[in-house]
Order: sequence, then C-alpha cells, then structure tokens
Amino acid sequence: MKVLITGATGLIGQELVKLCLKKNIAVHYLTTSKSKLEVSENYKGFYWNPEKEAIDKACFNGVDAIIHLAGATISKRWTTSYKKVILSSRRDSTRLLVNSLKGETHHIKQVISASAIGIYPDSLINYYDESFKITKTSFLSEVAKVWEDEVDAFSKLDILVSKIRIGLVLSNKGGALQEMVKPVKFGVGAAFGSGKQWQSWIHLDDLSQMFMHVLTHQLPGVYNGVALNPVTNNELVKVIASVTHKPLFLPNIPQFVMKLILGDMHVLLFESQRVSSKKIEDTGFYFQYHHLQPALEDLL
Ligand SMILES: NC(=O)c1ccc[n+]([C@@H]2O[C@H](COP(=O)([O-])OP(=O)(O)OC[C@H]3O[C@@H](n4cnc5c(N)ncnc54)[C@H](OP(=O)(O)O)[C@@H]3O)[C@@H](O)[C@H]2O)c1
Repeated sequence: MKVLITGATGLIGQELVKLCLKKNIAVHYLTTSKSKLEVSENYKGFYWNPEKEAIDKACFNGVDAIIHLAGATISKRWTTSYKKVILSSRRDSTRLLVNSLKGETHHIKQVISASAIGIYPDSLINYYDESFKITKTSFLSEVAKVWEDEVDAFSKLDILVSKIRIGLVLSNKGGALQEMVKPVKFGVGAAFGSGKQWQSWIHLDDLSQMFMHVLTHQLPGVYNGVALNPVTNNELVKVIASVTHKPLFLPNIPQFVMKLILGDMHVLLFESQRVSSKKIEDTGFYFQYHHLQPALEDLL
C-alpha cells in the first residue's frame, strides 16, 4: 500500500509517517518547502505550492489513499491578513489536490482529512458528537467548515471521504502541551478564566493510530479525534502540575489579560468543546490513553 501525506513534516504528520513505515506502507508526501524534499526507499517527497496552484503530479503515482493534514499553523498571531492564510492554506491545498486528480487515471480509493473540534460552538454544557449540525459560530468553526466542505469534493471523483475532527493534541515533540508546561515548570502556571472550559485532548500516539484505523478499515464519514475523557482547563493545569511535581498557587488568569497578550488568538485558551469519542470506539478502535494523568505521565 502507498499513501500520499500532506503536512507530513508537521507534528502529526511526522508521527504518521513513522507509523506507516513501521507497517510497511510506502509514503509519498507533499511539502511547500524544497529544503524538506527527501527520497529513500519507501519515503519520497514532492513539491507543491497551493497558493500558486503548483503541484508535482508524480506524487499520485501508485497511491492508494491520501492523508491530508496541510495547513498554516493557528499558533501565530491572528492578524487580519494571517487569518486569510489560515483559511486559504486549507481551502486552496484541498482544491489543488481535487483539481489535479480530475480527469486523471489514478488508484486513490480514500482521502482522510484533518479537521478540528473548533468546528463545534463554544459551550460549557453541550456534549458534541459528529451528528451535530455545524454552523459558522467563530473564526475557527468557519475555517474547519470551509475545509470540510472542500474535502467533500473528493467524493465526486469516487474517492471515499473520511474526516477526523482533531482535539488538543498532546505530544512531547511540540504543540500546545509544551507551551502549557513551560509556565508551570517556572512556578507561574495557572488556569485561564473560570477554568471551567472543556479541553478535549488526545495523545498523539492514539491520534496516529486512529488515522491508521480509519485507513485500514476504509471508514467513511466524520470522526472526532479526541480521547474518552475530556477535562476542564482547571483540571488540565492541575494534572500538569502534579505530573511535573510543581506547585500551583496563582489565581486563574483573566480573559482580558490574555486578549491583550495574544489578540484574537486568545480564544484558543478560553473556548470550550466537550467532545465525544463514542463513534470511533463503536468501530472497534481502542484507545491506549483513556485518562489524562497516564497520558501526561507518558509524555512528561
Ligand atoms: N496539533 C493539534 O493540536 C491540532 C488540533 C486540531 C487540528 N489540527 C490540524 O491538523 C493538521 C496537522 O496538525 P499539526 O499539528 O501536525 O500541524 P503542523 O505541525 O503545523 O504542520 C502542518 C504542516 O502543514 C504544512 N503547511 C504549513 N503552512 C502551509 C501552507 N500555507 N500551505 C500548505 N501547507 C502548509 C507544513 O508542511 P510543509 O512545510 O512540509 O509544507 C506543516 O508541516 C493541521 O491542519 C491542524 O490545523 C491540529
């Protein structure tokens, strides 16, 4: 089997590449950076530039499935112009893949695209499953909705469409966890706002296995990429402190302070999405990390 991965050089992509190679699945990947192009027996890079609609179509040769992760990071100040980059990088890259396959002979049977739980509205009460009717309620929900709608175009090419709405990915190789751990380690850790906002997290190992599960079982549709037990922000910070053996004594940091520091992007810390993993479990998927404490003990 051979997969084409976009965003393969990122946090999730690198883990997925490792897993594919371990399972003897050959990897083609698309990168926007010529310096990241590599060629080895089962791992081959191809250049693309979605903004300029440029793509090396040889990337599709022999490919059975596409795993689409590419998109500009959301962990950078959300200026008006950068917001456009966040959205267009996901829309244009998806459109370029679809348009490049139109009218071409290929063997691609499935696309598995990343999406995000930010697609669900901010709520302390709701418990979201995949059947929730999506409307654009925030910038992030708009980005995810536009991305998911764009991905649906693959079905017109008779390609099975699967989407994974990813939660807060916990990893020791980068991402949000590293940023949350830093202040706690320096003794200035604190929760945000009321601390009651839900954080639907997932260990990176479980997320990579979930992509693999959806691929090997050819599961169509949308799946939430979150662990079984979401926690509140208060609990998350408390567990980080406990696992790193640091005290927590500061009061929670008010929202207006974080807005001054981070601008619009501060919503990432205050939005609440309690998200269910039942649908993927019902397909026979087994999580290695059900609870936050063991997940953080493994990572920290
Ligand atoms: N990590 C999380 O907690 C989380 C949560 C929810 C959703 N997601 C989504 O899952 C996907 C993968 O996440 P990640 O954490 O692995 O992201 P990441 O580490 O930021 O990697 C994303 C990759 O996308 C490519 N990229 C960056 N800007 C691009 C652009 N303008 N056009 C096309 N490609 C571009 C880059 O690859 P090249 O440099 O090789 O081109 C980069 O390595 C992202 O789309 C992200 O939004 C992640």
